Amino acid sequence: MSALMPIDLRCEHLFEPQGLNTRQPRFTWALQGSGRNRRQTAYRIVVGSDRNEVEAGHGSHWDSSRVASDESLLIAYAGRRLRSDETLFWTVQAWDEQGVVSGFSSPAMFRTGLMEQLDWTAHWISRSLVPPGGRTPPQDTVYDNPYSARPADYYRREFSLDRKVKRATVYATALGLYELHLNGTVVGDQVLAPGWTDYHKRVEYQSYDVTRLLATGRNAMGAIVGEGWYCGRVALDQKRAGSHYGSRPALICQLHIEYEDGSIEIVGTDASWTCSNEAIVYSDLLLGEKYDARLEQPGWDRPDFDDAAWWGAEETSPLPKAPLIDATRGVPVRRTVEFHAKYLHASGDGKLIFDLGQNIAGYTRLELEAPRDAVFLMRHGEALQPDGQLYTANLRWALATDTYISKGGRQVFEPRFTVHGYRYVELTVPSGTRPEAVKLTGVAVHSDMPVAGTFACGNDMLNQLHSNIVWTQRGNFLSVPTDCPQRDERMGWLGDAQVFFNAAAYNMDTAAFFDKWLVDIGDAQTAEGAFTDVAPSIVYTRFAPNPPRGAPGWGDAGVIIPWRMYERYGDIGVLDRCHDGMVRWLDLIERNNADYVRRNAVFSNWGDWLCLGPATSKPLFGTAYWAYMAEIMIGVAGILGRRQDEARFKAMHRDIRRAFRQAFLQKDGRLESDTQCAYLMALGFGLLDEADRDSALGHLLNSISVADGHIQTGIHGIRLACLVLAECGRADVAYDLLLKKTYPSWGFSIENGATTIWERWDGWTPERGFQSVNMNSLNHYALGAVGEFLYARVAGIEIVPAGAGRRLLLRPLPDRRLGWCRASYTSHAGAIASAWEYQDDMVLWDVTLPANCTASVELPETVTDVTLQGDTLPGMRQENGLKRFDIGSGTYRFALRAS
Ligand code: BGC
Repeated sequence: MSALMPIDLRCEHLFEPQGLNTRQPRFTWALQGSGRNRRQTAYRIVVGSDRNEVEAGHGSHWDSSRVASDESLLIAYAGRRLRSDETLFWTVQAWDEQGVVSGFSSPAMFRTGLMEQLDWTAHWISRSLVPPGGRTPPQDTVYDNPYSARPADYYRREFSLDRKVKRATVYATALGLYELHLNGTVVGDQVLAPGWTDYHKRVEYQSYDVTRLLATGRNAMGAIVGEGWYCGRVALDQKRAGSHYGSRPALICQLHIEYEDGSIEIVGTDASWTCSNEAIVYSDLLLGEKYDARLEQPGWDRPDFDDAAWWGAEETSPLPKAPLIDATRGVPVRRTVEFHAKYLHASGDGKLIFDLGQNIAGYTRLELEAPRDAVFLMRHGEALQPDGQLYTANLRWALATDTYISKGGRQVFEPRFTVHGYRYVELTVPSGTRPEAVKLTGVAVHSDMPVAGTFACGNDMLNQLHSNIVWTQRGNFLSVPTDCPQRDERMGWLGDAQVFFNAAAYNMDTAAFFDKWLVDIGDAQTAEGAFTDVAPSIVYTRFAPNPPRGAPGWGDAGVIIPWRMYERYGDIGVLDRCHDGMVRWLDLIERNNADYVRRNAVFSNWGDWLCLGPATSKPLFGTAYWAYMAEIMIGVAGILGRRQDEARFKAMHRDIRRAFRQAFLQKDGRLESDTQCAYLMALGFGLLDEADRDSALGHLLNSISVADGHIQTGIHGIRLACLVLAECGRADVAYDLLLKKTYPSWGFSIENGATTIWERWDGWTPERGFQSVNMNSLNHYALGAVGEFLYARVAGIEIVPAGAGRRLLLRPLPDRRLGWCRASYTSHAGAIASAWEYQDDMVLWDVTLPANCTASVELPETVTDVTLQGDTLPGMRQENGLKRFDIGSGTYRFALRAS
């Protein structure tokens, strides 16, 4: 058997991260090795600044020596103190179950960023309001639009290099959005940097290796800065820029040039930079972009450009208190997938309707040939009205309109600092323009997380459902997990995100993305201990002067998401970091609810939002989540070794469970409000005694048949629905719900053309058309939480609380209606695959489990016999009618005989 080889080296959840802000980065690897039951018994990590030496197993910074351990996730660096702006390489070797040692893995790189605020010698700069040296900036009050959105600011600075450069790194960020240029080239491939954080507290900077962009002699560095989340329009209010954070965008960047002789030179932003406006008349996330190509200044980002008409930038201190300039934790936002837009029809004068075929978040690239001064207008929408016109009522006041003014000739336009949620484009063209004269391409833009999961089965509708879930995730994971990408909202709603977390984490590697968002959640927590409804938290008119404090199920994400991060990625560091905030939230709830029924401090108290039929009792809903959080806290306390906490939360959990049953469980076994969600929560969160579970299941089934076999829950019940039914031995009913095509169901939306998950079951119905109410996103992920069921139970790849990423549960639920199912999930410990297929009365089940991972297998009662091809089955146990056994790594083919 070959040695176990470490692969997929991650540092702080990322491949080759740039600009880390920690002196103790953590290392993760997967292991490759043929055969079964492969285990790591020891490892050795080597870290150093010279790649070749590291590859040979010598490190200038750290040699852990042989450590006897099976751990391979998030091992903390413990070498020489790391400095800012360093490039390091690391490698790892592993010993297997026989004590055979591997060679060193191919080294991976990581880079430290500017770890201290004092490392920032550059200054924040803004376009000056007061003209220095007689060069007059344009009036700030002249706007070209009713919303007074402002032109983007262009900055530049030239410098000379007289020696050969060994390495150059630029660290940059903006209050606003920026695009960095060096010698005529856009730096990096990310867009919408620096992303959204609470700019009152922190802004993230990005690091780019620009060694190859520099030249000996004259160089020019430039930046375009737009308003973005900092001072453009965000969320629900049509407020003028500045009402959430600041009123003037600002830029800071610092280029570190390291010469062959080791000396370092820094070029940073300061008053020596000049600024101007150019072709971006305005660019706003919600309104769209207006671009007047006639105003372009070719060559502005190259050396030897005549900037005599530009004026001096001003050094500013952006807010009453300058925000912390923090390293990027998340993943960059990038352009990922393109869609050719198909011309459909003309709609009114000069309006051409195009269709991408897929609802996305992003923007449209417009290619055209037109005379100077011709104006093109692109409006974006998710659907068409019955009369063929663009449906925009659901955008509320988000204009989602891009305007392009031609400079003459062939041209390509791509807006920079705006994103639209759309499938259709209405292009207004100058009269006489034929549809063939323009080319429109939809460009999807989102936080570019590595793909983690694949899912396919023998049912087309379910495959479309899976695709809709993935696209809804792509459409909404943009720096923060937003509720929707199209209307004037786009906020990081905590409730939606915690419900969707598991589905999302199967689809993509969300570790770094959520790690960053947990910082936003922490930044938002109020002095009294309240997590908020949204993070980054903003005060919007409806709730002023307070930020919206978290409702049950929403604020609770501050406890639930750190736990999910631990379950999936084994990240104890997250638990440690979030622990105090989690406790403060539970303190606040307990302080206000002495009888352990959660009626107080429930703030907006949304409940099982967007359910159909009768609403679930809100105290029941809140209390159930409280119990669930207390249970999580018991786990957290155990892992962190906090014995007192553990005792406290055990008592809390017991008291809440008791209070729940006393307050909500009626004599006939019904729960208050008698809704699907009520039973799902009680069963899913383990709030009933064994004796009461059967009758609760009976009532749950009854509430489904009363709804003619349909789902009725809102966004919270939905995550539990299929999972709980399967857990209670009624996978048949779970599949019934999953495969329904009549209203309300996922299938209904798909039958009616959905390519993303709708916000509400009744977003469109034949009788009423689109919901007339003002809240009707067609791209909202919460009801897509069922994606977790597809991976975890249909395919059977299940993440378990105590698994910490390396121990799994395999519990597939084959169903003839699907015929076959094939899924994979690439965890940080390696790739897991599960595929089953009916062959007559047999189900063939193929499983692959990565080295150093183990799984418990559990097969349903319907499986009467199990054999393992070419081998004897590991000791099987029969428990509660279920067949159980454990397996180690390797590839297996089981034959299951199903009744
Ligand atoms: C958002 C939801 C959110 C809800 C809170 C809506 O406007 O779109 O996703 O959870 O408000 O009730």
